[in-house]
Amino acid sequence: MAWFFSVITQTSNDILIGNCSLRDFSKNLKTPFYLYDMTGLDALLSELKIHLRDNPKHRICYAVKANSEPEICKRMIQSGLGFDVVSGNELKHVTQLGAAPNQIYFSGVGKTEVEIDLAISQTIGGLHIESLAELELIKQRAKTLNKPTQVGVRWNPDVDVKTHPHLRTGDANDKFGLETPQVMESLSIIQDCPELTFSGLHVHIGSQILDLNVFESFYKKAKAFMGDLLTKGFKPAYLNVGGGVGIYYDNNINESPALFKKYLELITTLFKDESYTLITEPGRSLIGIYGALISRVLYIKTTPKKNFLISDASMTELLRPALYGARHPIWMIQQSQTPTDKTFEITSPICESGDTFSEDFTCSFEPTQGDLIAILGAGAYGASMASQYNLRDLPKAYFN
Ligand code: LLP
Repeated sequence: MAWFFSVITQTSNDILIGNCSLRDFSKNLKTPFYLYDMTGLDALLSELKIHLRDNPKHRICYAVKANSEPEICKRMIQSGLGFDVVSGNELKHVTQLGAAPNQIYFSGVGKTEVEIDLAISQTIGGLHIESLAELELIKQRAKTLNKPTQVGVRWNPDVDVKTHPHLRTGDANDKFGLETPQVMESLSIIQDCPELTFSGLHVHIGSQILDLNVFESFYKKAKAFMGDLLTKGFKPAYLNVGGGVGIYYDNNINESPALFKKYLELITTLFKDESYTLITEPGRSLIGIYGALISRVLYIKTTPKKNFLISDASMTELLRPALYGARHPIWMIQQSQTPTDKTFEITSPICESGDTFSEDFTCSFEPTQGDLIAILGAGAYGASMASQYNLRDLPKAYFN
């Protein structure tokens, strides 16, 4: 399989995002804004199409929460992907864009009755239960609405993964999924209810995991559990192993598709002989590297202790740095030719001291007002987590 992707490159006085010159593109545009490299995304998606053709028992369901831009979701639909949704609004959003309901899987520990009714009436591929109390409500609603309902069970496999603690979901201390005995209890409840069918087992251990060995041992554990269920006479149509591999939030960012390819190869090898459908729900690895947040330098402020570079972007466009201490690659297009060895804290106009994109940013030349700043790797969990805190405008998005 050949994997060609447009990549992000820096020249002496420009940044190329795919084939797009950021210098030319940004002229006269108000910052901050998101810029998406659709050529890169299309290249990835055409590789995925080939993968899906060659592996008909693998279904890829894009995690809408990563980025719900209609342009992006439509591309996923056109490429034959299904969806992982976690709210009634996400479900409505993708069905309105043309997603087939039977390719949609709905997870989340707090679905409301309205959301459950919506999922039941749409006959989605799997309504994934995360507690016995939720199963009880689904049972009642399916009876009342008199609709056959595909119910998946989310298992908490109690595995320890190396990622930010907020991005971990498969530990016994986490709120997600059911422990093994409760999975078994829920299966007998589902079996006894004529409206409900057990559609499949769902597991998601966390996000931004880069170590493929972690996936490998977790997949083996999930495969063994599926084996047990099949031996016991249950008939799950699928095993859904949740989100995908992480991306590199450093200067190796362009290597991320190669890691994604290895992750796909791992899945293909491990599950090739299984009778059931294998579902994965990647979000970050599908769109993360194809979005950049573009901003400009508003001011340089020097204090006796520090140099601050105040950008016009903030946590309201990209929350990850403030929320998780995440650091994204940051590249600049500079106007000055005066060399500098100073370091800068890149911060924002927001009244929050934790709103920092970098503590120790270095650049070749003196930064000056109006210089362009590209915050890379912002395609996933960037625009989708934007807010209007301080009554700021939501960022515009451009698709190139
Ligand atoms: N499936 C389920 C059930 C999930 O909860 C998630 C992500 C995914 C799939 C997609 O995972 P991915 O392939 O993107 O790793 N806001 C955080 C990420 C939170 C992810 C939550 N769940 C961030 O900015 O890093």
